[in-house]
Amino acid sequence: MADLPVLVVYYSLTGSTRNLALAIADGINAVKGCEAMVRTVPKVSTVCEAVASDIPDTGAPYVSLDELQNCAALALGSPSRFGNCAAAIKYFLDSSSSLWLSGSLIGKPACVFTSSTSPHGGQESTLLSMMLPLLHHGMLLCGLPFSESALNTTKGGGTPYGASHVAGLNHQSVLWPEEYALAVAQGKRLAQTALKLQA
Ligand SMILES: Cc1cc2nc3c(=O)[nH]c(=O)nc-3n(C[C@H](O)[C@H](O)[C@H](O)COP(=O)(O)O)c2cc1C
Repeated sequence: MADLPVLVVYYSLTGSTRNLALAIADGINAVKGCEAMVRTVPKVSTVCEAVASDIPDTGAPYVSLDELQNCAALALGSPSRFGNCAAAIKYFLDSSSSLWLSGSLIGKPACVFTSSTSPHGGQESTLLSMMLPLLHHGMLLCGLPFSESALNTTKGGGTPYGASHVAGLNHQSVLWPEEYALAVAQGKRLAQTALKLQA
């Protein structure tokens, strides 16, 4: 049987959220029977006529609505933007009405992740902001349980609402060991939940 496709969609300008996405993908790929598909979204331009090329210069390919429709589970990540998700992620979600109308995402598991400059600069509100549209789609949200010991010991990111990274003022995109461990745990939990729901 083919592996279950678990979609990891992120937006990242300076690499932190991308590194979280790759750690979550490590967790997903550690679960036998699941395969991570890492995708990004294009920037939103203030010039409406500007059209991005179909292939990004660096990083993951752009996600398509077909991939969202056909995934077994979704991990969605964004840097914090004034305590909210980035416009590029919101723009992508706003293009998913057809999937809401068809109910295509109902019952699929999902999780969210973020990166911010400051530890108290809105990580949890950013995570919650991404959960709202996923709940409207009928998705089942997975957080991180406190049985993950790194949640109690992290000096950087990592929350029960989802994996996170604190990049600091110098845009440090490399994850701390606890942040990496929690992102992997989140990917594993998402993939294991997808497998259980398929069964
Ligand atoms: C417009 C804008 C708004 C931002 N708002 C916040 C914020 O509310 N809190 C915070 O801690 N960092 C904020 N940041 C910083 C980014 O969230 C932070 O640099 C993040 O780690 C970038 O992730 P990336 O490397 O994936 O792009 C903001 C950055 C920009 C450009």
